[in-house]
Amino acid sequence: MSSGVSVRPVRPTHVAIIMDGNGRWATANGKPRHAGHRAGVKSARQVVEACAESDVKVLTLFAFSSENWKRPPSEVDALMRLFVEVLQREVDTLHENGIQLRFIGNRESLPTILRKRMADAEARTAANSRMTLVLAVAYGGQWDMVQAMRRISQKVRSGDLDPADIDEALIARHRALAGLPSPDLLIRTGGEQRVSNFLLWDLAYTELCFTDTLWPDFGADQIAHALEFFSQRQRRFGRTGDQLEAVAD
Ligand code: IPE
Ligand code: IPE
Ligand code: MG
Repeated sequence: MSSGVSVRPVRPTHVAIIMDGNGRWATANGKPRHAGHRAGVKSARQVVEACAESDVKVLTLFAFSSENWKRPPSEVDALMRLFVEVLQREVDTLHENGIQLRFIGNRESLPTILRKRMADAEARTAANSRMTLVLAVAYGGQWDMVQAMRRISQKVRSGDLDPADIDEALIARHRALAGLPSPDLLIRTGGEQRVSNFLLWDLAYTELCFTDTLWPDFGADQIAHALEFFSQRQRRFGRTGDQLEAVAD
């Protein structure tokens, strides 16, 4: 029996989130901006739990962009301290829940202590397979492409790669998310409808879900809404709706 519903995806395998609105949440609550970032950690914890329970396999959270270095040094400093503190506090629980941690971004730009915590967390959780939690820290989509191009160019220069063999699959293997599928669903909180240099290559066919909810107000209920939104999409990847209905027959 043909049904429109059957061609719709049930669950996204990979959810990516631009966690925006911490500063505005803090201001609206009469608090300094860094209090908004602290409040945002609670949302991240809830969303990690809800995604793991919903059988999402990869969750990528945009925590700090390559452009966020332009913020006042006191805010950048507070964020770096918060990342170190949160990693220290949360890795045990993540590990116990079978979550693998992975970081993407320009690590060389980060404080040594944070880099060490990141490497320790990755090593500790490497064998976990329930869900991969990717944290994008000092990440930019353009930086991602630059680092991929550099590594590909080195292979060409050393004679290990023929430029004729550079294709989409080869570039995908050199991007920061190598080995992981591209996001099926991107959520951006905080009301802006832009990508802000997040996963440029990977978002080619991602479903986009924008919400005005500020990140510290986002939690399990809002994730459930976003998953419901996703389940209503028809992912055509260039084909026609009729073609998909015919395959589903
Ligand atoms: C997102 O919240 C967190 C980071 C970028 C680190 P913002 O800090 O951008 O919050 P708004 O957009 O100013 O409200
Ligand atoms: C995007 O938020 C980056 C993160 C959420 C980490 P921003 O607040 O930095 O984005 P813009 O500058 O308003 O586009
Ligand atoms: Mg913002």
